[in-house]
Amino acid sequence: MSFSYNIQNRSKIELLEKRYPDKRALILPLLWLAQKQESYIREDAMQYISEIVELPYMNIYSVATFYTMFRLEKTNKRIIEVCRTLSCELNGSEEIKKHLDDNYSEDFEILEVECMGACSGAPMCTLDGKYIENLTPQMIDEVLNAN
Ligand code: FES
Repeated sequence: MSFSYNIQNRSKIELLEKRYPDKRALILPLLWLAQKQESYIREDAMQYISEIVELPYMNIYSVATFYTMFRLEKTNKRIIEVCRTLSCELNGSEEIKKHLDDNYSEDFEILEVECMGACSGAPMCTLDGKYIENLTPQMIDEVLNAN
C-alpha cells in the first residue's frame, strides 16, 4: 500500500500550506510528519512529498539524508537519541553514550544526533522523542528501568 498521510496529518498539512506558500518550505515539516506517522520515512513517503512540493524525488531524499533526526529504516526497538554537539559533549555525552551502548543496546536503538536545542540541559537525550536533560548514567538507569 502506498504512503498517504492520515486524517490528522492532512489537517496539519492544510494549515502548513497556508503558512508556507513557497512549497519548498514544506519539505522539513512533511518529512517530520511522515516519520512521526510511520516511525521512519518510507521511500514512497518521500515520493509522495516530492509530488506535494513539486520537486524531484532526489531533492526530498537529499534533505531526508542530510539531517540526523530523520530515519529511513524501520526499527522495532525504542529509540534513544544522544546529542553529541559541543555543549553536550563538554558535559559528558560521550560517557552517556558509552553507558547506553554497554547496557541498553539490545533493547534500544541508540543514535547520536546533532544539537536538539536543549543545550542548557546538557548532556541530554531523547527517549521516544521526549527530552531528558542533565543526564547522568544513574539517571539513565532510573528512567529506563521505570519505562
Ligand atoms: S548541544 Fe546538545 S542540545 Fe545543544
